[in-house]
Amino acid sequence: MSKKRILTGDRPTGKLHLGHYVGSLANRVRLQEEYECFFIIADLHTLTTRPEKEYVDALRQHVPDVVLDYLAAGIDPAKSVIYLQSAVHAVYEMNLILEMLVSLPRLQRLPSIKDMARAANISDETLPLGLVGYPVLQAADILMPRAHLVPVGKDNEAHVEITREIARRFNYLYGEVFPIPDVMIGEVPSLVGTDGQAKMSKSLDNAIFLSDDAQTVRKKVFGMYTDPNRVRADIPGQVEGNPVFIYHDTFNPNKAEVEDLKARYRAGKVGDVEVKEKLATALNAFLDPLRERRAQYEAQSGLVERVIYEGTLKASQEGEETLMAMKKAMGLTGLWNRISRKGRDAIKREEKAQA
Ligand code: TRP
Repeated sequence: MSKKRILTGDRPTGKLHLGHYVGSLANRVRLQEEYECFFIIADLHTLTTRPEKEYVDALRQHVPDVVLDYLAAGIDPAKSVIYLQSAVHAVYEMNLILEMLVSLPRLQRLPSIKDMARAANISDETLPLGLVGYPVLQAADILMPRAHLVPVGKDNEAHVEITREIARRFNYLYGEVFPIPDVMIGEVPSLVGTDGQAKMSKSLDNAIFLSDDAQTVRKKVFGMYTDPNRVRADIPGQVEGNPVFIYHDTFNPNKAEVEDLKARYRAGKVGDVEVKEKLATALNAFLDPLRERRAQYEAQSGLVERVIYEGTLKASQEGEETLMAMKKAMGLTGLWNRISRKGRDAIKREEKAQA
């Protein structure tokens, strides 16, 4: 029996950090053993809020960075397909067909669209059609390889629901072409930033990147927010909600060490320096295998591009097959076949008559 398919991915807005690792990458690395995975670099989606040429150009720089982060994290191109959305022609065509199968008010009601508009300083008056259509383009991505499962964050759950509705409607109108994809919501809460803010994020400048070297990681750890009331090492400290201990819990596999540090921290019997030194060591030990894989890919020029190239060829082939199946079900291929056959015959008759 063939494996079930997964489709998921990211907009290439910059290099990935520890928050991405615990939130999605770790899960993807696990899932690729059991599923046939397609990982999309969704560069077209970034146009929905930022269509400017300069931004599009800047983005292009991020694509190999993101893919290198995937590979460093352990996504294996021998098992999984990594591809560039904008190079897959079928996605554009599918998007247009799928647009007919969902209502405008259904899309306009989505909080995610409003959130994205607000974040990009877009008012109701300037709301691009393409931003309202964001979930339709995402549906095209998911239905392109006829995926069964879509692992995403909570913020994308409604988009997968729209995808299910569109797929059901297509199947109802034209016949069974698509499996109805299930959503898989990661239950890992988002990772706090080094500054104690709820979410690690590049734009908040509180991230530890997967590509940071050991010195940088150490420096960021020593600058981390801890218990602000603990002005001296002999004052009992708060462990719960303390980012340094959240990171220890997440990344330090030596549980005995972590418990010992917590107990001494609560009792006012350990300095921040020791807690942070041990965290820096744990984080660097965690990142070392990623650094090793990264170095292997970087050692050979063009290797990352080759992964994207081969993945995109495979994705395009899938896209053509799905698009064909859709057009066939809709009767569009039949119509064109009849018209082109008759058209060609008419040309031949004319040529014969003139000969
Ligand atoms: N919307 C996703 C994000 O928030 C990116 C994305 C585009 C995606 N197409 C997808 C995710 C298909 C899962 C499936 O960045």
